[in-house]
Amino acid sequence: MNPADAKAWFGAVPPDLSVMARAKSADYIYTYLRTYYRDPSRPTGWNNLAYPNTAMPHVLWQLQGTRDAVFTERESAENPGEKERHFDHFVQVHPGQLDSVDYDNAAADIAGFLNYMAEPAREQRHRLGVWVLIFLLGLFVVTWRLNASFWKDVK
Ligand code: HEM
Repeated sequence: MNPADAKAWFGAVPPDLSVMARAKSADYIYTYLRTYYRDPSRPTGWNNLAYPNTAMPHVLWQLQGTRDAVFTERESAENPGEKERHFDHFVQVHPGQLDSVDYDNAAADIAGFLNYMAEPAREQRHRLGVWVLIFLLGLFVVTWRLNASFWKDVK
């Protein structure tokens, strides 16, 4: 997407998703994709609990269907006298192509894929890391005993 077009259409340029999981975590992406709700006050008609007032529309709305969010008002603990809005629950307005379990699984698959994309070599790095630690431990024992043997006659 042309960044200038994106800025004009959405008010923000979509970020590079290939590093998103490293920047914000797979858990965040999973939650982000699952917490969209309808909000007529927003230019796209959508809002999000994980990223309030996000410029990104709910691109998976056909899968999830449309939902409204119900908020309750409570007095703020930090600023007594002021009201705070708290999320209570979602109401499914139109059904999507997937039920909620299948939609969550699809969101988890996307988050998992972006997590892999963010660092495809992670598995190999972890596997190699174990051998590096074992090697360093062995080297430590050898140098420790060598040191003891070099200095054993020095009073
Ligand atoms: C399954 C496909 C997609 C995924 C997984 C995805 C995911 C994300 C994520 C994780 C962010 C960052 C949110 C944050 O910074 O907290 C983002 C931002 C954004 N995305 Fe998407 N996106 C997808 C498709 C799209 C599409 C098709 C569009 C355009 C039509 C789009 C437009 C944007 C925009 C404009 C932002 C910036 C939001 C802002 O900073 O307010 N995304 N997206």
